[in-house]
Amino acid sequence: MPAKRSSVPDFIYGTAWKEDRTAALTELAIRAGFRGIDTANQRRHYHEAGVGEGLAAAYRAGIATRADLFLQTKFTYQRGQDHRLPYDPTASLATQVTQSLASSLDHLATDYIDSFVLHGPSSGHDWTDADAEVWEAMRKERDAGRTRLLGVSNVSLQHLERLESAHAELPAFVQNRCFAGLGWDREVRSFCSEHKITYQGFSLLTANPEVVQHPPLIAVAAQMNATPAQLVFSFARAVGILPLTGTSSAEHMQQDLASLSLTLPPGLVQAMESMAG
Ligand SMILES: NC(=O)c1ccc[n+]([C@@H]2O[C@H](COP(=O)([O-])OP(=O)(O)OC[C@H]3O[C@@H](n4cnc5c(N)ncnc54)[C@H](OP(=O)(O)O)[C@@H]3O)[C@@H](O)[C@H]2O)c1
Repeated sequence: MPAKRSSVPDFIYGTAWKEDRTAALTELAIRAGFRGIDTANQRRHYHEAGVGEGLAAAYRAGIATRADLFLQTKFTYQRGQDHRLPYDPTASLATQVTQSLASSLDHLATDYIDSFVLHGPSSGHDWTDADAEVWEAMRKERDAGRTRLLGVSNVSLQHLERLESAHAELPAFVQNRCFAGLGWDREVRSFCSEHKITYQGFSLLTANPEVVQHPPLIAVAAQMNATPAQLVFSFARAVGILPLTGTSSAEHMQQDLASLSLTLPPGLVQAMESMAG
C-alpha cells in the first residue's frame, strides 16, 4: 500500500470548467504550492482525465508525489451529468457508485482517493432512499480502502439532519457554495462545527460580489497591502472554512495561497461575518 496522507490541506484547488487547460492548470497549481485538488467524475463540468494528466506531469517533474496530495472527487447522479456517463445508468445506484469511483481511480492513476463526495442529494430538501443507497455504497468504498474520507456537497441543514438520523455516520466534509448573504452558510457551518465536519466553501468570490467590491473592504485591503480576494480567503480560514479557488491565473494562485499568511484583526473578521447577512 502507498503511504497515505493523513492531513487535510489549508486550501483546495478546484478544476471545474477548465476543459483543455485542465492538465496544465492542475500542474501549475501544484507547482504554485497547492496540495489539495478537487475534481468530479462529471464530464459536463470537469475533465477528470485531464486532472490525472496534470498530476502525472507534476510527479514526473518531481514537484510532488501521490502521498503529498489530497485528491478529492465526486459521484454525480445521472441528472447532473450529460451523455458522457462514468457508469451504466441501468445499473443499481450502488453499482453506479462503484463504477464511478473505479473510473476516477483510473483517471487519476491512483488506487485510493482522499475524499469521495456525493455531488448533491437527489432531492432539494430531503435525504431520500436513493441518497441512503448511494451513501451506503460510498461507505463500502471507504471500508475497502478506495477512499480515505467521505463528503457531501450542495446540502442544506435539513439534508444533514436527515442524514444524521438515517445513518450511524456523518461525512468528514461538507462542500457548499458559500453566500455571504446567508451568513456565509451559517446554519450549515454551525452544524459542521458541532459535529466536527470540515466545511469546504466554494464560490467565495464569485457568489459574493457585494463583499469583494465593498469600498470599505477595498480600503482595508489596500492598507494591509492585500487584495479584497485575499481578505475573503483569509476571513474564510479565520471562521473555519476550508476554501476552494478555481483561478486560472498563476498570479492569483500565488495570491490565494499567500492569503493563508495574513492575520486579520478580530474586529475585521466579525465585521465581514455580519456584513451581508
Ligand atoms: N460541489 C459543487 O457543486 C461545486 C460547484 C462549483 C465549484 N466547485 C468546486 O469549487 C472550485 C472553485 O469554484 P469557484 O466557484 O469557487 O470558483 P471559480 O468559478 O473557479 O472562479 C474563481 C473566480 O475567482 C477569481 N479569482 C480567484 N482568485 C482570485 C484573486 N486572488 N483575485 C481576483 N480574482 C480571483 C477567478 O478569476 P481568475 O481565473 O482570473 O483568477 C475566477 O473568476 C471549482 O473548480 C470546483 O472544484 C464545486
